[in-house]
Amino acid sequence: MHASKIAKSYLCPVEKVSNIIPYYINQLNGIVNEREIISWAYISIDFLLGYNRSDCIIHAEKDITSVVSDRFKQIIADLKTNKPIQHIIGEVEFYGLKFKVNEYTLIPRLETEELLQWILEHEFTSVLEIGTGSGCIPIALKKNKDAEITAIDVSESALCVAKENAKINEVEINFLLQDIFKTTTLPKVDVIISNPPYVLFEEKELMLANVLDNEPHLALFVPDNNPLLFYKKIADLSYTSLPKNGLLFFEINERFGGETVAMLSAIGFVDIELKKDINDKDRMIKARKN
Ligand SMILES: C[S@@+](CC[C@H](N)C(=O)[O-])C[C@H]1O[C@@H](n2cnc3c(N)ncnc32)[C@H](O)[C@@H]1O
Repeated sequence: MHASKIAKSYLCPVEKVSNIIPYYINQLNGIVNEREIISWAYISIDFLLGYNRSDCIIHAEKDITSVVSDRFKQIIADLKTNKPIQHIIGEVEFYGLKFKVNEYTLIPRLETEELLQWILEHEFTSVLEIGTGSGCIPIALKKNKDAEITAIDVSESALCVAKENAKINEVEINFLLQDIFKTTTLPKVDVIISNPPYVLFEEKELMLANVLDNEPHLALFVPDNNPLLFYKKIADLSYTSLPKNGLLFFEINERFGGETVAMLSAIGFVDIELKKDINDKDRMIKARKN
């Protein structure tokens, strides 16, 4: 939206499409930065009106009914309580697809889209994902590759959401309720993927309240004294079950790139690649079974 339009209409209530962004900025100013507020406003507009950014310009003068206007105001009230926008509207976009999310599933992150993009650059016919949450990784993979995909999670509630997401996105995934620490063998697949819990408890205080208060701690945290807990277990199991040239992909905590590479190398993996995310942080790893 044009800056002059924002300035002109920022105190108006939500009566026209052109009022929405200024109204969000006015109401939420100081809670987060303006860029984030504008992004929340566009997510709300897409959810309530089905308009993308260009539609907002085309329909700038369109009237908004009082019912819809009240729904915008309710979203703003919820945002003021630190609830993530994705939980308020109950969905999130990941790799161009819509996913349901709730308090039992991690909200898919942009870094994970980068991991997915990297995986899709490879050839494979079968995949296992460990710790699927909303199912965003296997479902987006299946939409883009003709492969047989299995995904596991220890949380039954997360798996319910993942199954619903597979239905919404019209793909077939084999979802299994399984605790990786009680698992002794993995299915035989070409590629194993995991974005396991990797935040240390000591990093808690650096996190935003809307993450800490609303996202499942089961999906986030590992003990301070064992940051590679999940990585080591998954790498050991993967090394046994992957075929020659099979690939293992991890999303990682940026602080432990070197240690994770060393751990994989000690197990016997080769061609280990550590890759940075868009923010120049060590974020993902690929390793090949020799
Ligand atoms: C960081 S989230 C990743 C969610 C999703 N794959 C993504 O990338 O957005 C980690 C997931 O691992 C699951 N998890 C935690 N402990 C587990 C365990 N012992 N066995 C299997 N899954 C586990 C959590 O329930 C959570 O869904």
